[in-house]
Amino acid sequence: MLFRWVPKGGDTINEHFIPEDSKLGLNMFGFARDTKLWGEDARIFRPERWLTQTPEVTRRMETDIELVFGYGKWQCLGMKAAQMQLNKIFVQNWLLTSKAQLLRNFEITTVKPEQPAKLHESMIFILSDMWVKIEKRQTPL
Ligand code: HEM
Repeated sequence: MLFRWVPKGGDTINEHFIPEDSKLGLNMFGFARDTKLWGEDARIFRPERWLTQTPEVTRRMETDIELVFGYGKWQCLGMKAAQMQLNKIFVQNWLLTSKAQLLRNFEITTVKPEQPAKLHESMIFILSDMWVKIEKRQTPL
């Protein structure tokens, strides 16, 4: 978690007073698993959820998930490059062929649902022991 220090005199955020010298951090697990936005199965790895929402809900999902890159003047400088790469590999109808549409053409499921991966956090998240099964979909999404 990346912390920000509250300045002298404190600050008021969404009508909550935060005393000076407090450290505030963004809890990525909190907003990325908000059932009000992502649905009751928010904890489930189900990337297809991106393909089945209304444009309004999809936009809300996008703006929320962009927070993983931080916000404001400290926001990640590589955000657009990272998003472009992820989009090209996983989602985009690349050059109108089916070659790059990983999620549309393949179903990816975890092999060990009881512990899908090991997560180590030290400023960045390091995943290990994450095993998935990749199967070609009968009907592409
Ligand atoms: C999925 C991929 C990525 C994620 C989730 C990510 C996330 C982040 C986060 C959370 C920060 C700190 C923001 C803050 O302090 O509030 C950051 C900063 C930064 N990131 Fe990324 N990043 C990603 C990819 C990249 C890539 C591909 C590049 C370079 C091409 C990059 C370059 C930077 C730089 C230069 C900063 C420092 C910005 C500054 O302090 O002004 N990042 N990133």
